[in-house]
Amino acid sequence: MLTIAQEKRRIQAILTSMVDAVVVLDLNGSIILANKAAERLFMAREGQLIGKQMDEISHVQEIIQMISQVLQTGYEVFTETHMRPATQIFRVHVVPVKDQEEQIEGVVAIFHDVTDARNFDQMRSEFVGNVSHELRTPLTSIKGFVETLLDGAAENSTTCRRFLSIIEAETDRLTRMIDDLLSLSSIESKERFINPKPVCIVRSMRNIMNILGPQISEKHLHVEFIYPFTLPRIVADEDLLGQVLINLLDNAIKYTPRNGKIIIRCQRKESRIITTISDTGMGIPRESLPRVFERFYRVDKARSRNQGGTGLGLSIVKHIVESHGGEVFVDSEVGRGSTFGISFLVI
Ligand SMILES: Nc1ncnc2c1ncn2[C@@H]1O[C@H](COP(=O)(O)OP(=O)(O)OP(=O)(O)O)[C@@H](O)[C@H]1O
Ligand SMILES: [Mg+2]
Repeated sequence: MLTIAQEKRRIQAILTSMVDAVVVLDLNGSIILANKAAERLFMAREGQLIGKQMDEISHVQEIIQMISQVLQTGYEVFTETHMRPATQIFRVHVVPVKDQEEQIEGVVAIFHDVTDARNFDQMRSEFVGNVSHELRTPLTSIKGFVETLLDGAAENSTTCRRFLSIIEAETDRLTRMIDDLLSLSSIESKERFINPKPVCIVRSMRNIMNILGPQISEKHLHVEFIYPFTLPRIVADEDLLGQVLINLLDNAIKYTPRNGKIIIRCQRKESRIITTISDTGMGIPRESLPRVFERFYRVDKARSRNQGGTGLGLSIVKHIVESHGGEVFVDSEVGRGSTFGISFLVI
């Protein structure tokens, strides 16, 4: 048998080690016990909560009312509420403490921090909302053109061809979006096997310039590629690095008008290799700069959509670069151009 003192020490030890804040109040609503987490939550020093009423330590009316309600009714109650600071969300559980005759002696209030879980839920539902919206746009357009064709437009062969090519472009966009989403989720879940090897970023860049050569010459863009005679290699997955470079160069081409200029620079700065792609294009407003790496974010939705954009390119870039321990950055001025940069550690 444990003595009362031993029992009390054991309860204290359990309460102290708990992550949740626990407060025990007597019938008059005075605090008779509070653990360390509760002192942290209510910003009190050790022992300071004892003897206080709930309304002396918290301004959250909901909690004050819950406690007096349980003291009166003897039924337990739950709620989820914001605490101070208002960004913190807690699940609060108040249970009555009863003696052998079922008479209420007091209440125990437990505060469990659910901020991270709720923020994650919100991010996930925003993401699902975004994806559904983005998928619905091309589908609506495809359906519209198919209906018009069925209504008779198919009889005119020029109109028919035009509508079919729009449908083809929209279908391509859907496919691209789904490919991008899959590649993003496989990078995020780290399920894709990253195969890092020493690579020469100048060589990878040249490959990408060759791939995008037709788009560059079609828009009469002048491209300069500047790099030092010797440059250390970096450790990266060559295919993923290719995806990064192709997305950045593709944007520079897409968002720069005809006859514009693109300057690509690779250089060493201390222990890093910095690659920048600057263009003389339309630029990005200052307030949009922090958001361009977000999924689906496009400065000008309509314009990007006309170009077949899904708004996923830069979020893929950021994920790949960061999963290699590198960094991304951007600077831009509306009407003058943009510079996107990535940095990797040298071997
Ligand atoms: N070089 C650039 N100049 C001006 N704006 C740019 C540039 N690069 C990106 N942006 C802006 O950032 C947005 C996000 O770019 P991102 O590459 O993620 O998507 P996207 O190009 O619209 O579509 P995609 O998924 O096909 O790449 C673009 O819609 C555009 O508004
Ligand atoms: Mg892009």
